[in-house]
This record gives sequence, C-alpha cells and structure tokens, in this order.
Amino acid sequence: MDMEAIPVIAIGGSTAVAIAVGLLFWFFQRHQTAQPNHLPPVPEVPGVPVLGNLLQLKEKKPYMSFTRWAEAYGPIYSIRTGAISMVVISSNAIAKEALVTRFSSISTRRLSKALKVLTADKTMVAMSDYNDYHKTVKRHILTAVLGPNAQKKHRVHRDIMMENLLNQLHTFAQKSPQQEVNLRKIFQSELFGLAMRQTMGKDVESIYVEDLGTTMNRDEIFQVLVVDPLMGAIEVDWRDFFPYLKWVPNRKFENTIQQMYTRRQAVMKALIQEHRKRIASGENLNSYIDYLLSEAQTLSEKELLMSLWEPIIESSDTTMVTTEWAMYELAKNPKIQDRLYREIQQVCGSEKVTEEKLAQLPYLNAIFHETLRRHGPVPIIPLRYVHEDTVLGGYRVPAGTEIAVNIYGCNMEKVVWENPEEWNPERFMVEGDETQSLELQKTMAFGGGKRVCAGSLQAMLISCIGIGRMVQEFEWKLKGKAAQEDVNTLGLTTQMLHPLHAIIIPRK
Ligand code: HEM
Repeated sequence: MDMEAIPVIAIGGSTAVAIAVGLLFWFFQRHQTAQPNHLPPVPEVPGVPVLGNLLQLKEKKPYMSFTRWAEAYGPIYSIRTGAISMVVISSNAIAKEALVTRFSSISTRRLSKALKVLTADKTMVAMSDYNDYHKTVKRHILTAVLGPNAQKKHRVHRDIMMENLLNQLHTFAQKSPQQEVNLRKIFQSELFGLAMRQTMGKDVESIYVEDLGTTMNRDEIFQVLVVDPLMGAIEVDWRDFFPYLKWVPNRKFENTIQQMYTRRQAVMKALIQEHRKRIASGENLNSYIDYLLSEAQTLSEKELLMSLWEPIIESSDTTMVTTEWAMYELAKNPKIQDRLYREIQQVCGSEKVTEEKLAQLPYLNAIFHETLRRHGPVPIIPLRYVHEDTVLGGYRVPAGTEIAVNIYGCNMEKVVWENPEEWNPERFMVEGDETQSLELQKTMAFGGGKRVCAGSLQAMLISCIGIGRMVQEFEWKLKGKAAQEDVNTLGLTTQMLHPLHAIIIPRK
C-alpha cells in the first residue's frame, strides 16, 4: 500500500480511533476489490475478423471445444462469437471465483433470442437476473417444491414413481427375458408423472387445449412441455452473435420458436384452468399450484404459468440423464455393480433401498457423484453477463463480457482429477475404508454460490434411490452394440446419443 496516500492527521481520542478503523477498512477494501486497470487482459484464442471464433464452434456442444482449447490456452481464455466477447472458464478455482467471490459483478444473464422467448423474457428462477423477482420466485419454489421440507412432503410422489418404475422393469423382464430394455423411455415418463403430481397435483392422461382447439394425449403434452423447449433452447439464431444486425428478419427461426412458445403457453393455460375448476369443486391437492394460488397472488398470469412450468421442465430431464449414464456405466463395469450390490445387501438385507438408508450407502453416493463429474447433465452454466468491470484468475474482465463456466472442463481438470476420462467411483471413497465416501469433495455439476442448483436434493434422492433399487432388483448387462464405447451426447443437456439398451436379469 502507498502509505503516503494516507493523510496523517493529528487528533486525539475516539475520533482518532474511528479514523484509524476507517483507514484500515479502506486499506482492506482497496486490496480486496478488483483493480482491473492494472491487470492484463484475458488471453485470447485467435479467430478471424468479424466472425471471431464462430467457425470453430459449429457443433451444438461447445463444451468439448472449450475443454480442448483449455489445454492449449489455459484455464481461462477469451473468445469472440461474432461481435460478442466471451470469457470461458474451465478450472474449479476460477469457476468458484466467478460464482462466489465476484458474484456481485457477474449476476445477470444475457439470453439468446430462443431463450428470451422460451423463458418469457427471464420469467424463471433459473434464467432470471439476480433481482427481487428472482428472490421471490426462488423462495416460492423452495418452500413448496424443492426445499428440504417440501421434499419431505413430496416423498409420497417419489415412492409412487419408484414403484411404477420397478414394476414396469419386472413386467418387461418377465415378458421379454433376454431382450434389451429401453430405460430412458420408462424413466422419463415416470419422471414426468412425478413432476406433474408435484406441480399440478395429478399426472395427466389427456387434456382439451382450448386455445389450440384440440385434445392432446400425455405423449403430446410431454412433447410440447418438455421435448420441444429443450430442443428450442439450443436453436441458434445468427443474430445472437451480431446484435447490430438485430433488425434483419430471420422468419424461419422466429416462427419455430414462437410456435413452441404459443403451444406451451396454451397447454399450461389449459392445465391451470382445469385445476381451477377442481379447486372450485372443493378439491385441494396440496401441490405447487395450490400453494401459488393461495400464497402468491401478486404473480401475474404469465408469472404463475412460468413458475408452474419451471419445475416440470427442470424435473423431467437432468435427473434422467444422470441416472441413465450411471446405469450404462454400471452395466459396463460388472465389478463396480457387484460392489454396489454387496453394499446394498449388507445394509438393507431383504428390505428395499429407501431414502432413510442413503446415509449408510457411501458407495451408492460415490457412484452418483462420479456420474455427475464424468457425465454431468449441465455441461455449461447458463451464460452469465459481466455488468461492471471485474477480475478473474488475475486478469481484467471488462463490463459487457459474457462468462461461460465450462463445468465439463472443470470436471475434467487434470490437476484436480487423476485420469479424469475414467469413470471411477472409488475416487469418491475414503481410501481403505469401505464405509465412508468423501463428502467434502463434490463436483461443480450443480454450479455454486448464490445461484447453485435449487433442485439438487430432489435430483440426488431420485437418482440414488433409482440406481439403488434397479441394482438391488436386477443385474444389468450390455449386449452387442451397446457394449461398445459410446460416449456421444445430444441436446441441451448431455443426453446419451443412443438411449441405453440393457439386458436386465431379476436377482433371486
Ligand atoms: C442432476 C441434476 C441437476 C443438475 C446437474 C443441475 C445443475 C444445475 C446448474 C449447473 C444450475 C445453474 C447454476 C448457476 O446458474 O450458477 C442449476 C440451476 C437450477 N436448477 Fe438444477 N440441476 C439438476 C436438477 C435440477 C432439478 C431436478 C431441478 C428442479 C426440479 C432443478 C432446478 C434448478 C433451479 C430452480 C435452478 C436455478 C437456481 C438459481 O438460479 O438460483 N435442477 N442447476
């Protein structure tokens, strides 16, 4: 610190103490806050004029390119996507700095054109800026759906889901022994059922959608509420990269996304109307919609609709992706599957795996965390936006930059994870002690800081019980093509490119 910069004033008593404290505070403040101008800019990945690095990012899963570039340019570098400057972070330490220490400078989002429409202009917890609206709707979703107390209340829905899932697997194994089961189809459908019961009080078979003048069956509803928006979210509009050209029309893109939006709004509106009729007839189902209609009357109709859609879309995909990858790895690695089965036998005996037993099943916990590390369903944190100059990893980052936290890259960081390519649950166990997993060493899969995933408890409960029960009741094997290495992914989340097809043999 430059001592000459501090004026020396000869005064006595409490005033002097107050000034000294003030100066000390100023000193620490100065040294804690970023002094961006004295620092070098973030290293750049070379691109071409106008387009920047766009041509190098043609595929729809940029986390792979980001991770490759991290090996050449380091854990933090900047790229240009057209006119937009983006800093990419692929290290645990710098990601934590961005998500926690510098949060106040990086707490807003700039959404793509597709996401702007599909999120009704940030009317969601996960996609909003960090503001009063965010805090209000986050409180609602935690109180009534995702927080620990709400999850206790929704336990009955998870139990129903697990029984349905296991019953369907047993029926399949009986009817079609030695045939390969498509786990995704069953699991996804059951998860959707759970999301509907938590949110709307009931699973849905069909509904008349007045605004579209048609009746939709459950598969069509799933398509409109979940499948289409997930595909729409990765639609690329070239105008995203050249904001100065936003006046140029791109009708095909606009129509596709607008249609997805209109259909989703229409189906949600129909579901809400049906529920209002149920309430009028005196039926109270104790679900998220009941809570919002009585406790959140200040929400507009659009905000109500989006608040209800949010847990449906968020429940229906990420947990399925994680569980499918875990079952694929277990089927591919019989020794690990055996060790898990033995742990379950020892702890549960002839009783079913239940949520109460999870704390006694460290290896199951390790399998869940290792799957999140190796195949985390959200490979890049939804882009953040720097709204005031800041510092990351010792570099200057100017306001107006986008920040991509490359979770996939963090989870593949060689200085943190030995042989990161390998799926190895042992890395989460205390060495030499079969009874303990490393609770402290979590992955970046759920993000971090104030915007950490609000649904991690639900995801953990469903995925762990699902994996535990499926291994307790069946032996899982891969056959033919499925046994070959297949780590390709598809979609917004890192879904397996081809659904897992496995032989399931009921255990005696
Ligand atoms: C394995 C499953 C899941 C993973 C890996 C995951 C991961 C993430 C990540 C990386 C974020 C972004 C954090 C950020 O912006 O910094 C997030 C946010 C969020 N997630 Fe999840 N998620 C999962 C499951 C769920 C589920 C099942 C739900 C709800 C049903 C959910 C609800 C949310 C919400 C509401 C947010 C926004 C939190 C906020 O902005 O304050 N997630 N999640």
